Amino acid sequence: MWNFHCKSYFKSETLQVSKMSKRSMFLLAILLLNCSTSEGAAINSWHGVGTVHNLEEIIIGRCYNYIRVVNPTIGEKNCSAIWEAFQKAFIYKHPCNVIPADYEDFITLALHHVPQNKSLFWENTKLLVHRYSDKTRRMVPLGDTLIGFLADDLDWCGQPESPGINFVSCPTTAECENNPVNSFWKIASESYAKEAMGLVRVMLNGSVSNGTFPKNGFFAKHELPNLRKDKISEIQIWVMHNIDGPVRESCGMGTILEFENVLKKQDFSYSCINNYRAIRHLQCVDFADKPVCRFKGGVCKVINPRNGSRKVQLSAPIQYHRTNSSLKMAFLSSLHLTGKGKSVGNVTMCGLLLLGLMLLSHTERTLAKDDAKTVWKGKGSTAKLKEIMIGRCFNYLGTINPNAGNKDCAKLWEAFLNAFSKKDPCKITEEDYKPFLNLAGHDIPIDQSIFWSQTKTLILQYTDIIQKVMPLESTLIGYMVDGLNWCGKLSSPDPNFEACPEWNDCVNNAMHSFWRAASESYAMKARGEVTVMLNGSARTDAFRNNSIFSEIELGKLDSKRVTSIHLWIMDNVDGPDKESCGVGSVAVLEKILKEKKMKYTCKDNYKCVLYSIHI
Ligand SMILES: *[C@@H]1O[C@H](CO)[C@@H](O)[C@H](O)[C@H]1NC(C)=O
Ligand SMILES: *[C@@H]1O[C@H](CO)[C@@H](O)[C@H](O)[C@H]1NC(C)=O
Ligand SMILES: *[C@@H]1O[C@H](CO)[C@@H](O)[C@H](O)[C@H]1NC(C)=O
Ligand SMILES: *[C@@H]1O[C@H](CO)[C@@H](O)[C@H](O)[C@H]1NC(C)=O
Ligand SMILES: *[C@@H]1O[C@H](CO)[C@@H](O)[C@H](O)[C@H]1NC(C)=O
Ligand SMILES: *[C@@H]1O[C@H](CO)[C@@H](O)[C@H](O)[C@H]1NC(C)=O
Ligand SMILES: *[C@@H]1O[C@H](CO)[C@@H](O)[C@H](O)[C@H]1NC(C)=O
Ligand SMILES: *[C@@H]1O[C@H](CO)[C@@H](O)[C@H](O)[C@H]1NC(C)=O
Ligand SMILES: *[C@@H]1O[C@H](CO)[C@@H](O)[C@H](O)[C@H]1NC(C)=O
Repeated sequence: MWNFHCKSYFKSETLQVSKMSKRSMFLLAILLLNCSTSEGAAINSWHGVGTVHNLEEIIIGRCYNYIRVVNPTIGEKNCSAIWEAFQKAFIYKHPCNVIPADYEDFITLALHHVPQNKSLFWENTKLLVHRYSDKTRRMVPLGDTLIGFLADDLDWCGQPESPGINFVSCPTTAECENNPVNSFWKIASESYAKEAMGLVRVMLNGSVSNGTFPKNGFFAKHELPNLRKDKISEIQIWVMHNIDGPVRESCGMGTILEFENVLKKQDFSYSCINNYRAIRHLQCVDFADKPVCRFKGGVCKVINPRNGSRKVQLSAPIQYHRTNSSLKMAFLSSLHLTGKGKSVGNVTMCGLLLLGLMLLSHTERTLAKDDAKTVWKGKGSTAKLKEIMIGRCFNYLGTINPNAGNKDCAKLWEAFLNAFSKKDPCKITEEDYKPFLNLAGHDIPIDQSIFWSQTKTLILQYTDIIQKVMPLESTLIGYMVDGLNWCGKLSSPDPNFEACPEWNDCVNNAMHSFWRAASESYAMKARGEVTVMLNGSARTDAFRNNSIFSEIELGKLDSKRVTSIHLWIMDNVDGPDKESCGVGSVAVLEKILKEKKMKYTCKDNYKCVLYSIHI
C-alpha cells in the first residue's frame, strides 16, 4: 500500500520534478530512497521508457556486426570512436537539453553513402519497409544504414547526476522536444535525406486515420525538405493499404494529393502507385487465402508435383518487357531487377562478407605474429568476435526476445570462448560447447520450431516476414553466432584471427562441432507442430544422409513432444524441379517418419512462399 502510494505520487508530479530546485530534489530523493526498489537513486520522473541496459555494448556490438556481417560494403569504421561520439551527445546532460547538432561528431563518423536508387523513405509503414528492404539487399532505408541500425528500437537519455545515464525513465517528445532520442532521429533523418540519389521511393500507409502524409511526421518535417533536387531523378510514392483495409487514402486523394502538389511545386518528377505489387506479395505471404492475395493468374501455380513437369508459372504481369517504357512497366522492370537481386544477392552478401573477412584477416596477418605451425586454409575468426557476440547477446535480450530469461552475457562469452580457447581447432567436441549451450538455452515456443537443409537464405527471409517461427538462428544461441567464424590456437587464449580449418578439413573443427551441438539441443526442444523446409532444386538430394538435419535433428524429434511434421519442398524460382513430395530422397524421409510413427504432411512449394519472397 505504501509502495503504491509512493509511486503514484511521483508519477503525478512528473513534470514539476524537473523544474524543482536542487533542494527540493534532495528532499524528494530522500523520500524516494524510502520507497524505490532495486533501481537505486535514479529518479523516476519521466513518462518514457528508461535507457536500455548495456547501451554501450549494444551500440558497439551492432556497429561491428554491421560492418562485418550486415553490410561490409561501407568499409572500416572505428566503432569505439563512434560510441564515444554518440554518448558525448547526451550523457551527464539534462535530457530535455539535447539538440540535433550535439550528434554532429557522431554523424560525421558513422555516415556512409546510400547507393543510387536505394533510398526508401516511409511514414507509418516501418515493418513493411524493413521486410521489403531485407537488410540492404533490396533497399537501404534509414534503419538499414549504420546510423539507423545502431539506434533502431532503442531508448536512451542522460541525467546530470552520476552515472550520467538514466536507466529508469526518459522524456517523451510530448514532455520535451529536445530529448536525446528525438534529436537523434531528426539529424539522422536529415543526413539520410541529403544522401538520396537517383530514383527515390517513399512508402506511405493508406490505411491510417490521421493522414497518409502527415505534415508533422518525420518524413514531411525532416526528410522532404532536405532532398537535393540536383541528385534526384524521380520520386515514387508507394501507397500501401493493409490487407484487411481500410482503404482511407489513395494516390491523388486527400493528404497524398497535398504531397503530390508539394512535389509539383518544387519541380520534382514523381509518380504514385497504390499497393505496389512487389510489396503486396510480401504482405500476402501471411494472408495467402485472402481474396486480395489471389493475384490475377496467381503468383505461382503448382500444377502437378508428381511427374516432374515444371510446376511453376509466374503470372504474366511480373515478366519484364524492355520495349515498354510506360510508367507501369518502369515498376515492373524494377521488379525484375530486384528479382535478379536474388541471384546477385547470393554473391553480394556472401561474397562481400568473404571479401570483408579476407581483407580483415589480411590486415590481422600483417599485425599478428602467430607462432602456430599449422597453417589453416579457412577464414580466420571474425575480427572483434567478442564485441559482436556480447553486443548481439544484450541486443537479443533487450530488444529482440526479452522472454529468453535472465542471462549474463559476459559469462556466455566466456563459456563460448572456453570451448575452443588454447585448443587444437580440429579437436573440439560437441561436449566442449555444453556449458555455453546450457547457459544460453531457452524454451522454443510451441509450434515454432522450423528446420532446414540447403534453404537457409529462404528460411531467414521467411522468418523475418512471418515472425511466427523461431529457427535455430533466431534463438539466443544461433543469433549470437550466426554468420561468424571462429577457432582457437594452442599458443594463446585468444581466437585465431589469422586462419581456421575449413568446414570439411576435419570432423571435429570448432565451428562444425558447435553447429552439431547447437542443432541437437535445438531439436530436443521442439514441441507441437514442426516444420521442415528442404530444397527441391539442390545439387544433391533434398534429404541428404550427411546433413545436420538427417544426422542430428531428425533423430531427436520424437512423437511424445512433436505432434506432427510439415515438410515443405521448395524449388528455385527458375528450377530445376529435381525432387518433390513422394519422390526421391523426400520419399526416403517420408518412409523414415512413417517408421517412427510420426504424423506428417508434405507440400511442394508451400503457399508459393518462395515466389512471394523472391520477387
Ligand atoms: C578508435 O577510436 C578510439 C577512441 O576514439 C581510439 O582510442 C583508437 O585509437 C581508435 N582506433 C583506431 C584503430 O583508430
Ligand atoms: C537508377 O534508376 C535509373 C532509372 O530510373 C537507371 O537509369 C539507373 O541505371 C539506376 N541506377 C542504378 C545504380 O541502378
Ligand atoms: C498502417 O498503420 C497501422 C497503424 O500503425 C499498422 O497497424 C499497419 O500495419 C500499417 N500498414 C502498413 C501497410 O504498413
Ligand atoms: C498517426 O496514427 C498512427 C497510428 O494509427 C500513429 O502511430 C502515428 O504516430 C500518428 N501520426 C501522427 C502524425 O499523429
Ligand atoms: C503429369 O501428370 C498429370 C496428371 O497426373 C498429367 O495430366 C500430365 O500430362 C503429366 N505430365 C507429364 C509431363 O507426364
Ligand atoms: C505498355 O504496357 C501497357 C499496359 O501495361 C500497354 O497498354 C501499352 O500499350 C504498352 N506500350 C507499349 C509501347 O508496348
Ligand atoms: C547465385 O547462385 C546461383 C546458384 O546458387 C548461381 O547459378 C548464380 O550464378 C549465382 N549468381 C551469380 C551472380 O553468380
Ligand atoms: C537450393 O540449393 C541451391 C544450391 O544447391 C541454392 O542455390 C538455392 O538457392 C536453394 N534453393 C532454395 C529454395 O533455397
Ligand atoms: C542413405 O541412408 C539410407 C539408409 O540409411 C540408405 O538406404 C541410402 O542408400 C543412403 N543414401 C545415400 C545417398 O547414401
